[in-house]
Amino acid sequence: MEASGRQIKRRSANRSKLKSAGTILEEKENEAKENKSKYGPMPTFQYQRVFTRGILIVGVLTVVYFGTKDGREFALAKQKEVIHHRAQDIMCSDDYRAELEAFYGCIPKRCGRVVSDKLVSGTEADALLSIAKRGMALGGSEGGATILDLHSGALSHGRNFVNIYHLNGAKDVFKKTDITFYKVVKTKIQNAVAHHFGVQPHLLYLTHPTFFSRLNAAPALTAHDEYWHPHVDKETYDSFHYTSLLYLTDYGHDFHGGRFIFVDGDNTNRTVEPRKGRVSMFTSGSENLHYVEKVSSGTRYALTVSFTCDQKHAIDDPMLLSSVSKEQKQ
Ligand SMILES: *[C@@H]1O[C@H](CO)[C@@H](O)[C@H](O)[C@H]1NC(C)=O
Repeated sequence: MEASGRQIKRRSANRSKLKSAGTILEEKENEAKENKSKYGPMPTFQYQRVFTRGILIVGVLTVVYFGTKDGREFALAKQKEVIHHRAQDIMCSDDYRAELEAFYGCIPKRCGRVVSDKLVSGTEADALLSIAKRGMALGGSEGGATILDLHSGALSHGRNFVNIYHLNGAKDVFKKTDITFYKVVKTKIQNAVAHHFGVQPHLLYLTHPTFFSRLNAAPALTAHDEYWHPHVDKETYDSFHYTSLLYLTDYGHDFHGGRFIFVDGDNTNRTVEPRKGRVSMFTSGSENLHYVEKVSSGTRYALTVSFTCDQKHAIDDPMLLSSVSKEQKQ
């Protein structure tokens, strides 16, 4: 998840577990092209060649070792790319696996992350961006991170939060078509998460918080504004089992900085550059420690859509203001 709504807990124990887990890069797009037989059987070398090769290999390893002592960075998804489906599997963390045992049918076949630019159309992304802008115009954080949660109504305001459904100006902000777009996109993401991680879609429930975020370069005024600390979603929000992010603006065009970064145990940071309509989905356990880089200029909009396997943490789709306020009066 991106904008932190609470203080972030860092657990070094989980991080070291993560380190030993190791990661397997699985680029599905390239997998099919791999053809091991074309290399044929290994040739046999004369002693001297073995020796010189040995020296060469040691040399290369030395360079690689010293070159990566401070960690490497690897782009999982660049802004300019159009990605159909790019996945990276990672071993599930023990804590995550243990917890999900109670939820038969919702246990992932694999843990990891997947990015797709083909799930949500440009029209849908623009419609959601417009909802976020209209809603946030009624409030906004004084620091760098504003959130708008259409389910609970939470909207950043100055250094606090207000309920957008209690604001007078909110009456005509959202239209029926807004809610329709929102639900359609949510359902698509839910099905994609279920499909990729091999779980049953009807056993995945939307959970709290699911929200729009707006990040800019303004200095943080409260802990809520500090989105750049590495964290594990499952630790920040107990109900999370699968996290997804839909980007509504473009890295390098609408804003600079603000890349999403997975901090992996193999001393490698894997980055996802936001692209309008791009969806990134991942398991919420400590196998996916991550943070969002500080935005250095411009404005970055995204929608965090969170899922749980635990029905008691399920939330409903947002409703139009009229029906919501009726219900809240009851
Ligand atoms: C990877 O992320 C960590 C955590 O923020 C950071 O300390 C480190 O410098 C990053 N490494 C690279 C190569 O960017």
